Amino acid sequence: MKIQLMNVQRQHESYAEEYESAVLQVLRSGTYIGGEEVASFEEEFAAYEGARYGVSCGNGTDAIILALRALGIGRGDEVITVSWTFFATAESIAAVGATPVFVDVCPETYCMDPSLVEARITERTKAILPVHFYGQSCEMDVFRAICKEHNLYLIADCAQSAGTKYQGERRKTLGDVSCFSFFPTKNLGCAGDGGMVLTDDEDIARACRSLKLHGSGKDGLWSLEREYERKGVLIPDNMPLGESKYYNYIIGYNSRLDAIQAAILRKKLTHLDEFVELRRTNAKLYNEALKDTEYETPTEGVNSYHSYYIYALKHRKAKAIMEKLKALGVPNGTYYPVPLHLQGAFIELGYRDGDLPVTEDLSKTTFAIPVFPELSKEERNFIIGALKEALNA
Ligand SMILES: Cc1ncc(COP(=O)(O)O)c(C=O)c1O
Repeated sequence: MKIQLMNVQRQHESYAEEYESAVLQVLRSGTYIGGEEVASFEEEFAAYEGARYGVSCGNGTDAIILALRALGIGRGDEVITVSWTFFATAESIAAVGATPVFVDVCPETYCMDPSLVEARITERTKAILPVHFYGQSCEMDVFRAICKEHNLYLIADCAQSAGTKYQGERRKTLGDVSCFSFFPTKNLGCAGDGGMVLTDDEDIARACRSLKLHGSGKDGLWSLEREYERKGVLIPDNMPLGESKYYNYIIGYNSRLDAIQAAILRKKLTHLDEFVELRRTNAKLYNEALKDTEYETPTEGVNSYHSYYIYALKHRKAKAIMEKLKALGVPNGTYYPVPLHLQGAFIELGYRDGDLPVTEDLSKTTFAIPVFPELSKEERNFIIGALKEALNA
């Protein structure tokens, strides 16, 4: 039996006709950038997650960069985040010139530990950026309260959490700005790269729209005017003013979601609840089958409706078990093997082994197994059998 850790091909096959006809329609339309598919997907995804505005972009990394820039976060600022996440979370903070400040995660939920945040707030802190890790919702109420008290922005990294709920509602997983990825393996994945920023704030949405299109046109001019107003200075008389895309007012990016990707995502969005339910069923069946073993199965936070982008088990002999599982034909992997505070790219921040003990422990003791929605009963049972066998590694 050849099982894959993540299998996007099977997801395609289950609704192939629907996705392929949507792609064909775009190909025949000749509208490949922007247009109806992109605008509709922005509206539909924002409505699904419970936000007023959706601004699509090239990928989830760009979504975080756009969010930070739209909030005016940059050089000299600090953003509190986690180290137990994918590199892009902190990379985006560094990419806008700000400094990521890493805090540890809760040993039960694997999400940012709210009790550690206030001690890391300084006068440079501008935002808290928690990650709904593996699809588990963070304790958003606590973060919201901290942000309110200290006048900070709450940015949610939702790259792994499309479909996740907090206190029974998807909208409650969102921050002032929320950043999604549609990388193919994600809960809602396209056939390439894609991302989206969600917000209820019209100004933030507009700032993101201008940044993603080279700071050009009407939205670019609006952003520039806002910047000059903030600085209390007048726009120079000699500035060429026009509303077409060839008038550029701020340094932005080229970060667009292609119409073909939007068309696929619109179709997949109609099945997202079903995909999340299937992931949850797989997780539940693993939990039941492994409850009397030495494996520590994932905990669902009390307020969290976990979407199980990743299902990870914990065992102090994880490395040996992972090898044994591979030999038995069960693919697995650590998400992620090197915590960000110890990554070479962040070495100059001066963190040391031992600074974030929970994160460091999880990077050595956890491993993911297949949980994708189309996993068959036979495959799941085979994996459970192999997991039990591997305990003798
Ligand atoms: C937690 C997290 N943040 C950000 C990203 C970045 O998304 P993308 O790969 O679409 O740029 C990812 C994607 O893997 C992620 O898992």
